[in-house]
Amino acid sequence: MSDNPRFETRAIHIGQGADEATGATIVPVYQTATFTQDAIGTNRGYEYSRSGNPTRDALEAALASLEGGRFGLAYGSGMAAIHGVMQLLSAGDHVVVCDDLYGGSYRLFTKVMSGFGIRFSFVDATVLDKIEQAIDSATKMLWIETPTNPMLRMIDIAACAEIARRKGLMLVVDNTFASPYLQNPLELGAHVVAHSTTKYIGGHSDVIGGALVVDDEAIATRLYFTRNASGGVPGPWDAWLTLRGVKTLALRMRQHEANAKQVAEFLRERPEVQRVHYPGFPDHPGHELAKRQMRGFGGMVTLDLVGGEPAAKTFAESTRYFSLGESLGAVESLIGYPWTMSHGAFEPEAKRSKGITEATVRLSIGIEHADDLCADLAQALERAASAR
Ligand SMILES: Cc1ncc(COP(=O)(O)O)c(C=O)c1O
Repeated sequence: MSDNPRFETRAIHIGQGADEATGATIVPVYQTATFTQDAIGTNRGYEYSRSGNPTRDALEAALASLEGGRFGLAYGSGMAAIHGVMQLLSAGDHVVVCDDLYGGSYRLFTKVMSGFGIRFSFVDATVLDKIEQAIDSATKMLWIETPTNPMLRMIDIAACAEIARRKGLMLVVDNTFASPYLQNPLELGAHVVAHSTTKYIGGHSDVIGGALVVDDEAIATRLYFTRNASGGVPGPWDAWLTLRGVKTLALRMRQHEANAKQVAEFLRERPEVQRVHYPGFPDHPGHELAKRQMRGFGGMVTLDLVGGEPAAKTFAESTRYFSLGESLGAVESLIGYPWTMSHGAFEPEAKRSKGITEATVRLSIGIEHADDLCADLAQALERAASAR
């Protein structure tokens, strides 16, 4: 291997050498709960699969490499990974969070972690002053998600890292929407990168998973300890499926991106569409920042329909290739209605303050042929127009 293998090469080779026991070229699914010990206190590197499993280790090594950190930890879901980060905190701590984030994270923070004495302030983190103003003497963490979900706003990771450094906070970035192919927050100064690997990394809507990547050994040690203590690990089979997704991440992201650009441009010309939110448009407020901190604009497109709620619902229910469902980042296109689906956990006022309305629809653009996707959206828009 070259001294400095590129992303595509690392995705296929890091952590994935031939199996030492058998020579199997592909990392085997070590579907075992326990490992037979040679003698009391003597094992071959593994004891019990909650603590460590070779299939999971391979996935973690690959993910760490793709995010540019030394330590990767896989979890049983994105939410388990996010909960893992929460376990770095103690009662009395305060977290500043971007207000446009995944509804499940919001639910965990406000309905679960708040019961353990952790306080959260939600701010529009696209405005750096608002972050600064929300920090108090108990603030320990700054939590951002960029591009944001579902409005695809951009938050300046390097500027947040500078605030975090100055105020002694830990900066956590949920990098699910961008994927490691398009954005590496650790390189921009973040301390922890979180992923729902259910999305682009797994890429096929067939496995739930999560991951954290860190470069700081002390943070990694604490995370390994709390994960082992609380148990939110993925099974070996799920780790293997996710690792299989990792191998084609670069290829898929390139196609997601090309398709998203074509779909966004198509939608923008349609009379049934009021507004298209897509960071690849030069007039998107985060466009310049996206060019600076990402290597592309991603595969997500959000739109508001002229006809309000009836049009948006009819549109979301009328597509043929876009499956109406939760999730994103898969080879097949998905369509979602954030008001009641991904962001159903937010109060109506909270949704409106972020720009999400009953007319908003979120698209996860798959890797089908973009012309077919546009034709599908065209017929769904025509139906939506008659629903007004
Ligand atoms: C940005 C983001 N973070 C975290 C999660 C949670 O991940 P999971 O569903 O794998 O628990 C999601 C799920 O949609 C998400 O979109």
